[in-house]
Amino acid sequence: MGTIYCTATSLDGFIADENHSLSWLFATPGYADDPEGRYGDDATLDFERMMGDVGAIVCGASTYAWLESELTKDGQPFVWPYAQPSWVVTHRDITPVAGVELFAGDVAQLHPRLVEAAGGKDVWVVGGGDLAGQFADHGLLDLMWIHQCPVVLGRGKPLLPRRLRLHRERVERDGQFTAMLFRVVGPEP
Ligand SMILES: NC(=O)c1ccc[n+]([C@@H]2O[C@H](COP(=O)([O-])OP(=O)(O)OC[C@H]3O[C@@H](n4cnc5c(N)ncnc54)[C@H](OP(=O)(O)O)[C@@H]3O)[C@@H](O)[C@H]2O)c1
Repeated sequence: MGTIYCTATSLDGFIADENHSLSWLFATPGYADDPEGRYGDDATLDFERMMGDVGAIVCGASTYAWLESELTKDGQPFVWPYAQPSWVVTHRDITPVAGVELFAGDVAQLHPRLVEAAGGKDVWVVGGGDLAGQFADHGLLDLMWIHQCPVVLGRGKPLLPRRLRLHRERVERDGQFTAMLFRVVGPEP
């Protein structure tokens, strides 16, 4: 079990547009919308399968803010959508929703708590990209599980603003997405 950055990205490497919108992502048909789009019967890189192996979750402040805004847009109270123990890294003075703890500082200090909370399962780094990069800086990011969307945004929030060497482990189709699993090798000179 390891620490996995699992996210969707545009073809040109953005996980949200410059206004934090994911409209381009939700407009893309996945396997459920396009059963012909899946490659092979042994396809394994689907989000539900990944979530089944996740024991703890960490995300950045903007991602948390996006989730709060998205999940309360029709006036409903904010309920954290994940059952797993979860952390938000932020310097902001916010009261987190039930099920979420706050952390500020060096993620190397947080990582042992994530691993312990995960109880032998994976740690999911939801994003953003720099947060995944902070774990990678300490050699604490094991895998990247990327759903690449056939759209070009030109600008936005970066997938992973670092120089990192990856080793491709697996590629599958998921509707219009290309699902790719990479092992993190280490810093790219
Ligand atoms: N395409 C996808 O599947 C996908 C997946 C995940 C996220 N997203 C989206 O992508 C965007 C990502 O936004 P983002 O690039 O701004 O990244 P983010 O990680 O969500 O938020 C970055 C902010 O988190 C705080 N932070 C980061 N590291 C910290 C640390 N070590 N200690 C304390 N605070 C820390 C800082 O804010 P403060 O200092 O203000 O607290 C920082 O500006 C969001 O819109 C999100 O919804 C998309």
